[in-house]
Amino acid sequence: MTLRLATAQPARHPNPTVKAIALTHLMFERPDLDRTEAFLRDFGLRTTLRTPDELYLRGTAPAAYCYRARRARQARFVGMGFAVASRQDLLKLSRLPGASPIVRADRPGGGEMLTLVDPSGFTVEIVWNQQPADVLPHRALLTWNVGRAVARVDAFQRLPAEPPEVLRLGHVVLELADFQATSAWYTQHLGLIPSDVQVLPDGSPAVAFMRLDLGDTPADHHTLALAQGFMPLYSHSAYEVVDTDAVGMGQRVLRERGWKHAWGMGRHILGSQIFDYWQDPWGDKHEHYCDGDLLTAGLRTGIHPVSRDAMSQWGPPMPASFTRPRMTPAALGALLRNLRRSPDLTFDKLLTLAKLFG
Ligand SMILES: [Fe+2]
Repeated sequence: MTLRLATAQPARHPNPTVKAIALTHLMFERPDLDRTEAFLRDFGLRTTLRTPDELYLRGTAPAAYCYRARRARQARFVGMGFAVASRQDLLKLSRLPGASPIVRADRPGGGEMLTLVDPSGFTVEIVWNQQPADVLPHRALLTWNVGRAVARVDAFQRLPAEPPEVLRLGHVVLELADFQATSAWYTQHLGLIPSDVQVLPDGSPAVAFMRLDLGDTPADHHTLALAQGFMPLYSHSAYEVVDTDAVGMGQRVLRERGWKHAWGMGRHILGSQIFDYWQDPWGDKHEHYCDGDLLTAGLRTGIHPVSRDAMSQWGPPMPASFTRPRMTPAALGALLRNLRRSPDLTFDKLLTLAKLFG
């Protein structure tokens, strides 16, 4: 298939304001912190702080927390945090329109922070000088017998039937109406690099998988992925576990504890992760993954046609429910409003997306 690329594709910025060095945390609002915590602990995160109104969780990696839930009347995804390398970088971002003043972070790990709002309205916290916590232990890699490479004799492969230890937060995927302005904001201000872009048959971008610019240090294939939708929505977030058995054991434990499965196991194409997706009590998808691709900053952006088949190399077909939005009256209102307002949104494009993924 020849791709027509009349529309501008998300691209790296030649001189970004700063280069973010990590995705530090996600922020949610939840009407019930007990249920939130129950799901996330079964998922493999650990509570680091719980107050009547706030819940912080972490993985085994030294980040003091990677998940924050605040008590609120309605369930809502609020946004995410990125770390920067220096106070200078924090100062540079504090000059952006709408930036909050720099404040002391009254959170696990401390440090200093400020708050930005991206063009789609997601909150972006910028964190500097957060103190690392202790690294927590996790299960060692299993010893595998592979063909004639025998590594395990007179010993048995046994796994504890427990939630797999989450190592760390890996990435978050968001849908937006204003795809171009929002992707450009992240490439321009946080230095994110599009690793791969999936385009619609008319050449317009549908999904941008973006990584951190860490120079020669390998970075996850995507830390933030943005998809063309009809309104700003949380799609899913992904958490690294140690290996395939951890992904599989996660599936068993979450199923036995009555949580709702979304899709998996399988292996993605873009990013290559072995994945399994679960819904939290509010229907928000959380992904266990292992063995993702790591890229240095030099690699060029790949352009690919978007399709349902392009989502995995193997595994069960992606269920239609995976990408179908919940069509509330508020969502319908946003759809009509954004169709009129957003330069990236046309009725034809929505129809193509609905046909591809509906
Ligand atoms: Fe993912």
